[in-house]
Amino acid sequence: MTTLLTPRDIGAIVGAKGLAACLGTLVSYLEADFSRWGDFDKSARVANHSADGVIELMPISDDSLYTFKYVNGHPKNTRAGLPTVMAFGVLADVDTGRPELLSELTLTTAMRTAATSVMVARQLARPDSRVMAVIGNGAQSEFQCLAFHLLMGIEEVRLFDIDAGATAKLIANLRAAAPALKATVCANTADAVRGADIVTTITADKANATIITPEMIEPGMHVNGVGGDCPGKTELHADVLRAGAVFVEYEPQSRIEGDLQQMPADFAVTEFWRVLAGQAPGRSSREQVTVFDSVGFALEDFSALRLLRDFAVELGLGRSIDLVPEMADPKNLFGALYLPATRPAPRLAVAA
Ligand SMILES: NC(=O)c1ccc[n+]([C@@H]2O[C@H](COP(=O)([O-])OP(=O)(O)OC[C@H]3O[C@@H](n4cnc5c(N)ncnc54)[C@H](O)[C@@H]3O)[C@@H](O)[C@H]2O)c1
Repeated sequence: MTTLLTPRDIGAIVGAKGLAACLGTLVSYLEADFSRWGDFDKSARVANHSADGVIELMPISDDSLYTFKYVNGHPKNTRAGLPTVMAFGVLADVDTGRPELLSELTLTTAMRTAATSVMVARQLARPDSRVMAVIGNGAQSEFQCLAFHLLMGIEEVRLFDIDAGATAKLIANLRAAAPALKATVCANTADAVRGADIVTTITADKANATIITPEMIEPGMHVNGVGGDCPGKTELHADVLRAGAVFVEYEPQSRIEGDLQQMPADFAVTEFWRVLAGQAPGRSSREQVTVFDSVGFALEDFSALRLLRDFAVELGLGRSIDLVPEMADPKNLFGALYLPATRPAPRLAVAA
């Protein structure tokens, strides 16, 4: 049998554990997996593009577990009452190929993306960072704000979105979830970014946008660029990348999908796992500008699915479903079509 986790189960996990503990444990699962980078069979995700969006498959495995995520990105969706990003995924046993877990990953993607941003910022941002600008106040934004508040000591978020309703929604959610976090609405991106220690961009637009321009960048800033994550979709001006040291998840994928897509093939970047492993420097001085050009990598969903599996077992959550036919004789697959208890045997038409 396969365990099914729905959004309701994810809500129950967060309800039982608390958001800070969920995000904090997720960061430790991510660090554990990024620290054994060489163990994974990695590939850039497979993307099917259409005029208004993209649908992607993200597989990865080690010796014992295989995971994949299905995820879309359709910025126009919110106008039709659908989320921009929707996802689900599977965790399977490498030994047999048996799918152990089938889970929602829409809520989980928001948590794993925020947890990944924190994992990276812990290594790259100045440790005394207290103020974060958040440009783009849609579905992912609460998760970013709360993860940085709960796990990185961010005390103030400075918010801007071209949709004032999105910012009002974010403020209302933050007031309820974290009253101690100061949230300031800003008139534009430049206002929000001025004086910030960390700049998070999490906008959705299938366009080569330049949300952050070089004159906005101040010495010592850490840029957490999350929304530029597919071909033809960027957020950072090329000179912002030139202004600092650029870190990526998995270079072959980031060259295609990240803000990095604007840069020549020999533009130097560092894969983040190397910083974690002590093989490459992170921030080199208080004044240095650091840029995390995030696109979302399959390993982050691997860590998240592993955590969901462990929490579901601990909390007794999830429903067993027969995703694969149950058979007394595994060679008698045909027999599983006509289980007597559920369906009568077929009537075979006899030619006249
Ligand atoms: N890197 C990753 O791992 C990762 C993970 C999840 C989502 N994403 C990406 O993050 C982005 C945001 O996702 P979401 O689910 O929050 O989308 P969303 O549609 O819910 O919110 C995006 C917000 O960006 C705002 N926006 C668009 N253009 C803007 C601009 N020029 N200035 C300011 N605000 C602007 C929109 O008004 C909207 O409120 C998407 O592009 C998605 O693909 C990346």
